Amino acid sequence: MKKWKVAVVGCGSIAGYAHFPSYERMKDKVELVAVADIVIERAKNAAEKYGIPHYYASVEELLANEPEVEVIDCCTWTAAHAPVTIAAANAGKHVLCEKPLAANLEQGKAMADAVKKAGVTFMLAVCTRYGAEQQKFIELRDAGVFGDIYLAKTAYVRRRGVPGGWFTNKEIAGGGPVLDIGVHAIDRTWYLMGKPKPVSVSAETSYRIGRNNSEASFTWGEGLADRPEPPIFNVEDSAAVFFRFEDGKAMIAEASWTINGAEEFYSKLYGTKAGCSFDPLTVYGVDENGKLTNEKIEVKGNDFYEEEIRHFFSCLDEGKTPISPIEDALVVQKMLDGIYASAECHAEIKID
Ligand SMILES: NC(=O)c1ccc[n+]([C@@H]2O[C@H](COP(=O)([O-])OP(=O)(O)OC[C@H]3O[C@@H](n4cnc5c(N)ncnc54)[C@H](O)[C@@H]3O)[C@@H](O)[C@H]2O)c1
Repeated sequence: MKKWKVAVVGCGSIAGYAHFPSYERMKDKVELVAVADIVIERAKNAAEKYGIPHYYASVEELLANEPEVEVIDCCTWTAAHAPVTIAAANAGKHVLCEKPLAANLEQGKAMADAVKKAGVTFMLAVCTRYGAEQQKFIELRDAGVFGDIYLAKTAYVRRRGVPGGWFTNKEIAGGGPVLDIGVHAIDRTWYLMGKPKPVSVSAETSYRIGRNNSEASFTWGEGLADRPEPPIFNVEDSAAVFFRFEDGKAMIAEASWTINGAEEFYSKLYGTKAGCSFDPLTVYGVDENGKLTNEKIEVKGNDFYEEEIRHFFSCLDEGKTPISPIEDALVVQKMLDGIYASAECHAEIKID
């Protein structure tokens, strides 16, 4: 079986929490050849910890010295997704890139142009598409269980969960909870709806609570990169959103890092024949006698990060388009950028 030669760029928390551990379990499929991080100590530490032969301080240096690398796995902060992906694509490498696609649509478009021109495979690592319940939902949806899905609601809401460091700096993060966690909720729900064409968005973003936390800043996972707290917090702390799609379909979405309410992460989908919610997967239907039914479907959980990364390499093996290609990523980035544009003018705006 072919082993793909891979380099990871950005050796911070998501690389340490999800990507390196997945590669440890995929040694039959993947050979880690090199790593890079602008903080060279992080690259060195990762190389030592995972037995990776070479480490560098930039993607450019890595590409110049490691011509045999076939795949760049981009786990940098958000504003670096574009330069890293473009450099990789220009060098003919396939790219797996962490969410969100980019800090803004302009960067996302430049990435898509480079990927298209190079003819390489690009996959956005939107892990929640790869959950076992979501994949089961797709199976049921495609078998016609839900009929026409015309409405959805979604939220990713933390009560007190402002991440530290660059996440609150617009120049590096592109935005706040909308781009950081709202993307999981919105991307997943739009994908599950069957990717309807967005036509407009109406949104408000707010900054009213921010880092005014009673508890420490949010951290997750192990091996978090050192995140000094810059005195910069120039992004929103929550958002409320309404998307319209073609054929009169709609999605209501919410994202927050700090709010005085319950923690939530959900997608609810409503079709003409049945609806659905997750955790556990539940189908709200009507039987042949007109009786309302709530059917819980048992689905064995999975490690959706590993599932996602394995999917990327099986697409490379088979020359297939990934479940989360750059075309989808661009549509979702348009929707996310639209949230900010609408909030800025306090009015509904069109999405082309
Ligand atoms: N899928 C998920 O559930 C999930 C969870 C957390 C973060 N993320 C995403 O992963 C990305 C990284 O987040 P994180 O939490 O790991 O951040 P982090 O700060 O822990 O790590 C980012 C690393 O990228 C490095 N870096 C920045 N620019 C670089 C460049 N040009 N070249 C090489 N290295 C560079 C930084 O030095 C840092 O070590 C973000 O885009 C974030 O949205 C995804």
